[in-house]
Amino acid sequence: MSVAVSTKLTSLLNVTSPIISAPMTDATTPALVAAVINAGGFGFLGSGRSSAAKIVADIDEARALVAPEKQHLVGVGFVGWALDRTDPTTVKTVLAKNVAAVLFAYGRDLRKYVAEVREFDAAHEHKTLVFVTVNTVEEASRVAKEWKPDVLVVQGYEAGGRANVNSPSTKDFLQLVAETIPDHPLLVSAGGITKGSQIAELLETGAAGLSEAKQLLIEAGADSTARSPIFDVIFPDNVWPDGIQARCLKTGIVTYEARVAELTAKQSESAKEELETLKAQLRTKIDSDKDYPLIYAGLGVAELKSIQPAFDVARGLHDETVEALRSLNSELLGGA
Ligand SMILES: Cc1cc2nc3c(=O)[nH]c(=O)nc-3n(C[C@H](O)[C@H](O)[C@H](O)COP(=O)(O)O)c2cc1C
Repeated sequence: MSVAVSTKLTSLLNVTSPIISAPMTDATTPALVAAVINAGGFGFLGSGRSSAAKIVADIDEARALVAPEKQHLVGVGFVGWALDRTDPTTVKTVLAKNVAAVLFAYGRDLRKYVAEVREFDAAHEHKTLVFVTVNTVEEASRVAKEWKPDVLVVQGYEAGGRANVNSPSTKDFLQLVAETIPDHPLLVSAGGITKGSQIAELLETGAAGLSEAKQLLIEAGADSTARSPIFDVIFPDNVWPDGIQARCLKTGIVTYEARVAELTAKQSESAKEELETLKAQLRTKIDSDKDYPLIYAGLGVAELKSIQPAFDVARGLHDETVEALRSLNSELLGGA
């Protein structure tokens, strides 16, 4: 058993590690979430556009892989715009599974979902922790004040998948939020987190947990990713909130960024037609051309040197964090 790292969040969840498996649509598996929970942390399934029945099946699958007393630790991450378009009972169906936490990200109005959780809990004498992902300091401030989530996931520039084009770096963002928002909710850092020393530093800066998403992208280096609107060509128009774009590996598709931007800016019917044709071609390329895959990845991919089981990754990161906290004489180190 590793030494426990104690933060306000680990105490609330009654876990021994502040490492959280990030929700990743189409990438997180129940086994990944279970591995991080078994390593002492907490995990979110990524639900994206899944049906409620699929999410429930994934929760059950992950729960079957962890001890009974840890089964509530399988959380669910929701994508706001996808929720807006799905069966309106989806959140309630998940809450009825007695999950310890849900996470909401990337929506124009997530407030109504936060309210839905609070109403459900009030009627069922249950406490579901509500995590909300924020991408700018202004957003963090507004969300903390108006929606009162239990946890703000402060997702920085480096993050794989989506973030705001103006997101500060993970470390700066955490510091700014911790310093400028009075009585802020608990904070979880996300984006480019790959080392125990980094985790120790973020914990000492005020993070109560860390959200880590790992892609098996061994060969990618520091300059291999970009945040760009071009990756959203596979989605219907205007579903992602303003400023939210994906960070992915720079595959062949980025060479079309300028052309798509140029056609988007033009108002003519012919430009609109050409744009739709090009987008359809790009979708086909993404699906079928090996030089055009869509691979979400953050800046942390540069540190990825080998493929390891998720349990070992989470446990290894935890142990590195303990070592780094020890050298800082940190008060966050708990017992065995
Ligand atoms: C493949 C992939 C899919 C993701 N899908 C989601 C998602 O469905 N919901 C969500 O809140 N965040 C999603 N994210 C963002 C992660 O939850 C997390 O904040 C981010 O990946 C952390 O940065 P890192 O990749 O640098 O560790 C995704 C990230 C990746 C890489």
